[in-house]
Parts: sequence; C-alpha cells; structure tokens
Amino acid sequence: MKCDKLKQARDFEATYVPFISEEARPCFHLTPNIGWMNDPNGFSLYKGEYHLFYQYYPYDRIAGPMHWGHAKTRDFIRWERLPAALAPDQEYDKSGCWSGSALELPDGRHLLMYTGNKSYRREDGKVRQHQVQCLAFGDGVDYVKYEGNPVLSDGDVPENGSTMDFRDPKIWREGDSFYAVVGNRTPDGSGTILMYESPDALHWRFIGKLASCHNQYGRMWECPDFFNLDGKDVLFVSPQEMKPIGLEFHLGNGTVCLIGRYDRENVHLIREKVQAIDYGIDFYAPQTVLTEDGRRVMIGWMQNWETSQSKPEEGQFFGAMTVPRELRVVDGRLIQNPVRELEKYRGTRVSYSDVVVSDELNLSGIEGRVLDMTLTIRPWKAEAMYRYFWIKVASNGEDYTSIRFKPGTDTVRVDRTHSGFPHDILNVRDFQVHPDGGNLKLRIVMDRNSMELFLNDGEQAASFILYTPQEASSISFRAEGMAVIDVEKYDLMFEIRKTECFPGRRAPEGSTPTIV
Ligand code: FRU
Repeated sequence: MKCDKLKQARDFEATYVPFISEEARPCFHLTPNIGWMNDPNGFSLYKGEYHLFYQYYPYDRIAGPMHWGHAKTRDFIRWERLPAALAPDQEYDKSGCWSGSALELPDGRHLLMYTGNKSYRREDGKVRQHQVQCLAFGDGVDYVKYEGNPVLSDGDVPENGSTMDFRDPKIWREGDSFYAVVGNRTPDGSGTILMYESPDALHWRFIGKLASCHNQYGRMWECPDFFNLDGKDVLFVSPQEMKPIGLEFHLGNGTVCLIGRYDRENVHLIREKVQAIDYGIDFYAPQTVLTEDGRRVMIGWMQNWETSQSKPEEGQFFGAMTVPRELRVVDGRLIQNPVRELEKYRGTRVSYSDVVVSDELNLSGIEGRVLDMTLTIRPWKAEAMYRYFWIKVASNGEDYTSIRFKPGTDTVRVDRTHSGFPHDILNVRDFQVHPDGGNLKLRIVMDRNSMELFLNDGEQAASFILYTPQEASSISFRAEGMAVIDVEKYDLMFEIRKTECFPGRRAPEGSTPTIV
C-alpha cells in the first residue's frame, strides 16, 4: 500500500513527465523526472542493475520537502526513469526524506537508509530541524518504510553531538556486519563523522568518530562516504562553509577527499592526504558504488547550493548528475575519469596532430555540444614557452565558455561569464594544475548544458553547467606565444528516445505544460 503523498507524486509524474521532451534534457547525464534534484542517494547494485536515487521535489524547480527520485542503469550512461520511491509522509520525516544510501540485503530485498528531517519552531520563534536515520525496504520499484523507524535517533548521538545536524547515512556490509557513517556536528559548529555497527541493519550501535574537522576544511560535514581503494582508506565529505586555501577548496559548499589508513581498533582515519574532489563550480555531495567488476564509481550532483539559484526562467526540471566517474588512488592522490562505458557511445572521430597554435584557430570538424575531446598542449620550443593557451567552447561569437591555461603559474581559469546565465553570479574559477614544462592534457566531456574537464589523465576534474544556446557549438584555440596541440574529438551518439518513461502514456505532440 502506498501512502497518499507518494501516490500524489507518482500521479503527478505520470501526468506531466511524458510532456517533457528528451531534447530538453542532456543526452547521458541524469536529470530529475520533473522538478528539482539535488544529492545522489542510494547508489547501489541491486539484482544486476545500478540504482540511483536522488533528492527530489517534483512540484517545483526549487528545493522543497524532499522525496527520493529514482532511476536505474546497466552501463552508467543510459538511465531508465522510475517512479518516485519515497515521499515525506511520516511524523519523523514529514519535512523531508533527506539523503542516504542503499544496499542489497542477503534476503534479496533492497534496503534504503535515509535521514528523516522534521522542522519545528522553537519557543524563541526560530525554525530548527530534528534529524533521525530511517530505513525502507523494497524490490527495486516500490519501497515500504520500516515500522521500527527511526533506527538511529537522539539516544544514538554521542555526548555533545547535534540532533539537528545528524544526517546522510552511508551504509555498507562487511562480513556479517553492517556499518554506516553519518554526518554530525559538535558544539563548536564543526563537522564530525560518526560510525555505527549493526548485525542486521535494524539495530545499531555507535562505535566511534571516524574523523572530525575541528573547523578545518569547512564546518558541518555532509554526505560522508567511506571505502577502501587501491590499498588506501578514503573518506569523502561535503563540507558547508568551506574556506579556500590558496587555489584549493574554492566551492563554498565544498567536497573533500581524505585519504589515509583506517585504524579499526580506535575507529579513526589516520590522514595522509586531503584534497578537493572537484575544481569546478557545479559539484556537490558525491556518492560511490562498488561495481560488479570491482570498480569504485562516483557520481555527484552537478550543481551547488551557492549557484543553484541562477537558472533559466523556463523549464520543467532543474539539476543534473555528473557523468559517473571511475576512481583510483595513485601515489596517494585521487584520480577520476569518466566510466569506460562512455567510450561505447563514441561516434565520428576527428583528430589532428602537431598543430601549431598562435592566432585564433578553428579546426574543421572540431565542434559540437555532445562530445568527448582530448587535447594535449605543449610548447612549440622548450626555450620559447607560450604565455597563455585558450580553448573556447560552446561558442557562437557572442556566447562562449573559455578555458585558459597559464604555464607560468600552472593555473587553469575557466570563465563561463558568457554561457547563458541570467545573472553574473560566480562564473570564473581558477585552479592549480600539475603540468610538466607547459605540457597539459585535457579531456573535455560535453553534454548540451554541461562541461566536465579531466586534467592530466584524471588527476583533477572540474564540472560546469552552461546554459548557452545549443547552436553555439564552435570550438577554437588560441595562444599567446606559440603552442602545439594534438586533438582527438569524438561525437557522442545517442538515439533520442522521445518519452522513454512511464510507458502507456504519450505526451500530445507539441504540448509543454508548466510546473506549478
Ligand atoms: C546536501 C544536503 C544533505 C541533506 C540534503 C537535503 O546537499 O544538505 O545534507 O540530506 O542535502 O536535501
């Protein structure tokens, strides 16, 4: 039996989603069925398919009482939309089913673990939140909330922990035990990651604080994820109120990767390296899954709370996920590259080698908005280092997005000031790269309204949303001084499926209702 709020959301989706044309969406980046999307949730392998849920408010293009939207995929590139999975319909989650995770139980059920959020007004008039951790069980489509909810609440928070900032459980199984990490806050306002253990996923016991931020690397740490990769233990957190250090950690809602060694006895991560996960503007709350063939794949919200206010007026949905990325730890650093499955969608290839670039240059066949392009840049002569190198993408002369590399300071600047945004919000991002003598390798993955950069074979990634009209598809190169490039570009090819979801319903031709 589905409760009314979920039924209402599913009816709303079935009525309106078929009206949204697939042409309005990116080709291979997941967007919400309708309305608003934020964090990825419940990224999990269930009965041979990868399920992804997301923070979802179907009724508007701004955040509201969160539901869980739902989709699944076999190859991380083509997504099948599914109806909403959770709605905020219980006393303990009445203001939102907030972020969480999922796994397949030994008995074949799909388990969701999420934060129930309840807002209330204090006597002094201030609105506060109360957060608890909850479960739901399902079959890959329909989910029923556990009657014993919440499974983690006030009594499970260690002394001095907050019950207002107690959220985003990431669950996993190890041997006969289940574990979960949950974001929390101490009285000085700083984030801490709590760890819990359970024999059955229903009864949990606090076992220790995996990491604490002491107001370094942001304050409240949201959306933790903890896993072992290439012999290292890795903790992901999404800190609020992040302050930059040099050119690192520039997103106000940042994402940080702590790499080290897990001291199991003391439930403590011994840090060896701390780095940003993404250097762009639009990235937050990443979550990972372990694939059937042993890869650790991450997906992130390709937006950020700071910038998500600025969006085109028109549209039936808002928010997208990044391309799923394969992670590695190499020489103690996080490396990320698009999942290898993306290469299956490569179509026409155009390539050039040893092209000398100085004045602005277009190369025949190098253009487009749905593409996978790799560029290597090097000095024309070692003793004559170029001063700047620019790539302009999504350009029609008036609109464009530029990527500028300055070998003298080893910095990259991405400027999307002229990329279709209604306001001149934060549109320029500088970050430090690690090139070698003016040699830089850059992979650019574009999908209509986004551009993701992967530098030096995945040593750094940077994600950006662009609202530039689709006709702006030209790409050009320019250098101050002389540089030499090799470039290889593939169009990414997708058949447009008109209304792939909610079969049985077809949108009348040309109709586009607005969301109210
Ligand atoms: C992160 C976050 C989570 C929370 C969710 C609410 O973006 O703030 O901490 O669970 O979004 O939508």
